[in-house]
Amino acid sequence: MTTLISKQYQFPAVYHESHLVSLSERNFFVQQTQFAQSVLELGCGTGRLYPILGSGNKQYVGLDREWQMLKYFLKDHPKACLVLAQWGDWPLLSYQFDMVVMARNTWFHVPPVSRLALLNNVYEIMNESGIFVVEVDRIKDGSPYRQADFFPQPVLEIVGCFRDAGLKLEFTKNLSGTKTALCFRKACR
Ligand SMILES: C[S@@+](CC[C@H](N)C(=O)[O-])C[C@H]1O[C@@H](n2cnc3c(N)ncnc32)[C@H](O)[C@@H]1O
Repeated sequence: MTTLISKQYQFPAVYHESHLVSLSERNFFVQQTQFAQSVLELGCGTGRLYPILGSGNKQYVGLDREWQMLKYFLKDHPKACLVLAQWGDWPLLSYQFDMVVMARNTWFHVPPVSRLALLNNVYEIMNESGIFVVEVDRIKDGSPYRQADFFPQPVLEIVGCFRDAGLKLEFTKNLSGTKTALCFRKACR
């Protein structure tokens, strides 16, 4: 029987407490954000990474479709700039960002049929020297389990998919456990 992963987002406190930022994740994002003035986090959830991504004078925008998750986010960070929306709706198209982030397997929520359109939009809103960071679990050949709203993809396939949208893999960084961060820049189209 298929189940819904997104059901867990109705319980943001549980999600937040069971997905603490690991040391390697923290160090990685601290390093990557140091030169970014503006950050867009797609599927920002409870704001796990906000203390890093929104630190200093950065302009941070978090987008998520789950009001419960954003409500939890605002409880701890009432001044954060958050957008309640589906990423397919793209209310942010007129802005440009130095860094776009999809953390913790958020990418796996994008159905295969929507991937290219989403990546094309990300391409448009990235500054020329911008970086797109996608954090995923390393999976060899698809998901070991079935979920109705979760579409795992092996890293090599993700990289190919991003290449098709004009996003070139610059480097990868293995984080704790099976997590890896894939970092893309704009290539010439
Ligand atoms: C695995 S959680 C990751 C949350 C956060 N990035 C983190 O690192 O903890 C995925 C998030 O993506 C959001 N999401 C899933 N599909 C979405 C969509 N179509 N539009 C906007 N947000 C979406 C979910 O509501 C959830 O908060």
